[in-house]
Amino acid sequence: MPPPRICCLGAGYVGGPTMAMIAAKCPDLEVIVTDMNEARIRAWNEGPLPVYEPGLEEVVKKARGKNLRFTADVKSALQAADIIFVCVGTPTKTHGVGAGRAADLTYVEAAARMIAEVAEGAKIIVEKSTIPVRTASAMLTILRSNSKNGTFQVLSNPEFLAEGTAVADLENPDRILIGGEQTPEGRAAVEKVAAIYARWIPRDRILTTNLWSAELSKLVANAFLAQRISSINSISALCEATGADVEEVARAIGRDSRIGPKFLKASVGFGGSCFQKDILNLVYLCEHFGLPEVAAFWESVVKMNDWQKHRFSARVVRELFSTVRGKSIAVLGFAFKKDTNDTRESAAIAVCRDLIKEGARVVVYDPRVSPTQICAEVLGSEKNPNLAVATSALEACHGAHGVAVLTEWDEFKTLDFQKIHDGMQKPAFLFDGRNLLPHENLREMGFKVFAIGKPPVPSAAVS
Ligand code: NAD
Ligand code: UGA
Repeated sequence: MPPPRICCLGAGYVGGPTMAMIAAKCPDLEVIVTDMNEARIRAWNEGPLPVYEPGLEEVVKKARGKNLRFTADVKSALQAADIIFVCVGTPTKTHGVGAGRAADLTYVEAAARMIAEVAEGAKIIVEKSTIPVRTASAMLTILRSNSKNGTFQVLSNPEFLAEGTAVADLENPDRILIGGEQTPEGRAAVEKVAAIYARWIPRDRILTTNLWSAELSKLVANAFLAQRISSINSISALCEATGADVEEVARAIGRDSRIGPKFLKASVGFGGSCFQKDILNLVYLCEHFGLPEVAAFWESVVKMNDWQKHRFSARVVRELFSTVRGKSIAVLGFAFKKDTNDTRESAAIAVCRDLIKEGARVVVYDPRVSPTQICAEVLGSEKNPNLAVATSALEACHGAHGVAVLTEWDEFKTLDFQKIHDGMQKPAFLFDGRNLLPHENLREMGFKVFAIGKPPVPSAAVS
């Protein structure tokens, strides 16, 4: 049997890196990545890559021009493929029924219709996008009722990569999950896709389930991860009130092997394109299936995260003598985490907006995010002279009354903070939203330091 030909719809943060890894690991497979966004395709072909990920350029270069192609000619690519990965966006609905919660499946449906229109013969459609449970059923209905000559198996193969570590996650994933119909045809399709991953991933890490379990597991995985962050962030507030140190608490509880140490880093709040959207999607599903208590439980994870972001901005204002009007605040880091240029739902957006609303002049510096993107995220299409973007951390901090660290870029750990302090208004305030910096050293330099879940001044003796 000739090796299957692969096509991917959507050349974003998931489609691009995932397909590049498959192509690099399987040189005999032809992999075509398509997107309607021609500028994105051009960037994948000519660089700089539209997605910043450490190590990604090497993976792409290994296969591009050999067995990996990027094209905006979606239909031809679909026609030639045996296996079609659907990696299109599934944002939260902004209007109509379920607005603000339910997933907007416009792109998924459009993808299914496009496949149905051009497909001839047997095709395996793989949902890689994160979608509500039972979407495969809707896709199958669209495919089967619109196709003349195609026959389809729809599988769910959710992606678990995290941005910033995408290459390592794809190379060495904790697990690959593939769900399919529990029929001989469904099982054969699952096996075909499993065989691709098995080229570089041990078989015992490839889990197969029924369709609905695979679809639901993706939402649940993100909900559990985000829940840990909201849990530790809620405790960070209690630490600040009581003199406990959230890092010490996290270390203490994380040593319990039933709890484990990961995802217990208190922060200014989680961001990223998926946690909030996927939890709200889960909440919507629970409500839809008549489970309001379950919905409320998961919604509290998002509410706690919103509260944490605003709590951070409120603290900045409070410590700066309850007013930031006319004061300059340097924001170091805008991406939602280090090692990515993605700013979707970044906590920095909420913090910048809050501070600007209070009348502060906010000067942002991020090593990977462009000024245009920062302004668009904070202000939309409006203009506001109280938002500026600097080309270095030193420039952002010059003349500032306070500095807020919002992304944990390694670069910030190597800054000359004495020089930064010298150039700031006094007292110089530093708000570490990532617990990234050496707070005691900074205090010795003269900074007034406030960090997440830490007592403002370390308590030496009990009083
Ligand atoms: P993205 O917005 O970066 O990319 C989606 C791409 O799909 C866009 O470039 C868009 O132009 C393209 N597209 C839309 N409709 C199309 C069509 N009919 N044909 C061809 N291209 C089309 O999104 P993303 O971050 O890559 O996420 C994609 C999906 O993967 C989402 O469901 C998301 O929840 C999920 N996911 C994302 C991550 C992540 O880290 N970003 C991780 C795991 C899962
Ligand atoms: C997350 C999941 O980790 C991936 O498994 C999943 O595939 C992906 O969502 C998705 O579905 O899109 P991602 O959002 O890229 O990945 O990055 P994470 O490392 O999970 O970080 C998310 C946010 O939580 C970041 O803002 C990060 O700074 C924050 N975070 C993370 C904390 O505040 N504390 C922690 O302990 C961990």
